[in-house]
Amino acid sequence: MNNLTKHDQMEKMREELCGFTASPLYEYRLSNKYSPVIGEGSYDAKIMFVGEAPGKTEAITGKPFCGAAGKFLSVLLESIGLSRENVYITNIVKDRPPENRDPTPIEIALYSPFFDRQVQVIQPRVIVTLGRHSMGYVMKRYDLDLELGPISGIHGKSFETVCFDRMHTPQPLTIVTLYHPAAALYNGGMRETLKKDFEVLKKLI
Ligand code: URA
Repeated sequence: MNNLTKHDQMEKMREELCGFTASPLYEYRLSNKYSPVIGEGSYDAKIMFVGEAPGKTEAITGKPFCGAAGKFLSVLLESIGLSRENVYITNIVKDRPPENRDPTPIEIALYSPFFDRQVQVIQPRVIVTLGRHSMGYVMKRYDLDLELGPISGIHGKSFETVCFDRMHTPQPLTIVTLYHPAAALYNGGMRETLKKDFEVLKKLI
């Protein structure tokens, strides 16, 4: 069993990610003086939010969801009485893809073990996926492949599964699939949909 504190385990991941030369995004990060975006919030959070990959503002600051989409995420959190400090916010891919393109399957495969380790450290009761890429990864990772469908069909739904803790004991885990908050920046109706979908979380916290 791992005897490192949660803080030390997260710092170890930060060091590994800083030197992650195997990533196809590593050179792009260095040449733009960007930082990897590890995650932010409480290591004891009961609820974990997972986006896709950092955008430009996030890669400059090293903080997740701090640009326009992130501001809307903060509004959504406050609307159900949560703050960024009492949840944990991260992404599947920890480096910015060029021109904000979608992360590739190879990038998701390379970075997702870090996300899995973050789940092991935090052991949340609820994981909220933001957008279809994190939804696809998380649903398959927790054996919910059969429930997967287009995000237009399963946004705002919750799914029960289990997550094995460090003692290999199954712990109940709820996955909630939401649209990415950036979708609301280009589509006003989506803003209302996201606000309504966020209400689902109220029953779980
Ligand atoms: N979009 C994401 O998926 N993650 C961020 O951190 C910012 C924008």
